[in-house]
Amino acid sequence: MRTADLRSAAREVTLRGWAVFHDEDVAAGDTAAMDSLARACGRPSARDGGPLWPVAPRAATGTFSVTSADTGLHTDAQYHERPESRFLLFCVRPAWCGGGLSRLLRTADLLDGLSEAGLDENDPALLERGVWRWRTPEVFRAAARAPSGAHAVIGRRGKVRWRYDNLVATESGLAGTARRFHRHVEDHPATETVSLSAGDVLYCDNSLVLHGRTAFRDPGRLLYRTRLW
Ligand SMILES: [Fe+2]
Repeated sequence: MRTADLRSAAREVTLRGWAVFHDEDVAAGDTAAMDSLARACGRPSARDGGPLWPVAPRAATGTFSVTSADTGLHTDAQYHERPESRFLLFCVRPAWCGGGLSRLLRTADLLDGLSEAGLDENDPALLERGVWRWRTPEVFRAAARAPSGAHAVIGRRGKVRWRYDNLVATESGLAGTARRFHRHVEDHPATETVSLSAGDVLYCDNSLVLHGRTAFRDPGRLLYRTRLW
C-alpha cells in the first residue's frame, strides 16, 4: 500500500465520508500489516476489544460484530462519551453466500429534508436534544458505563450518533421518535451497498456516515475492525 494511495483514501473520507482501498497483506490475514495501515491512518483506539477486533460470527445473539444477522445502520461506540472519529474494516474473507454486504448512508443525505420525512413535527428538535442514551453491548461492558450519558442524536455540523437496538428510551415520547427515525434511516433511498473483496479496507467517518450490513450464512466470513481517534 503506497502512502499516496492512503492519502487519497483519507482525502476521500474527508470529502465523501468513506473510501475503500486494497491491500494484499490484508487478504493474507496479516494482522501486523493491518496494524501498520491503521497507524498510518490515525491513532488506533484500544477500547472495546482492542485495536484489532475480529468481526466474525461466534454467537447466536449479541452485538453486531459477533453474529451473522443483518445490522441496522448505526455509528460505532455511540454508548461512549466520546466515540472514535473514524474506523477501518479490513476484509480478510468475504462471505461466500453473497451476504454480509456493507450498507452506508451519509448523514448529509439522511438529514436533507428530514422535517418532511414521515417524522412527527417535534421529532427533529427532539433528536437534537441531549436526552438519548444507549446500553453498552455486553461484550464491551467493562469498558463503559451502562447506560451511556445523555447525548443528541443529531449534533452539530451534520454529525450523528445512532443505533436503534440498544437505545434506552426512558423519557416519554422518545420511543415514538426513535421508531420513526429508525424507519426513516432504514428505508433511506440514498443508502449505498458495498461489496468488500478479500484485501479491501473500508475507511469510514464514524459520525458523518451510518454503516450496517446485510445478513450472511458463511461461518468463515472474517473482517477486523480498528477504530481511530
Ligand atoms: Fe459498527
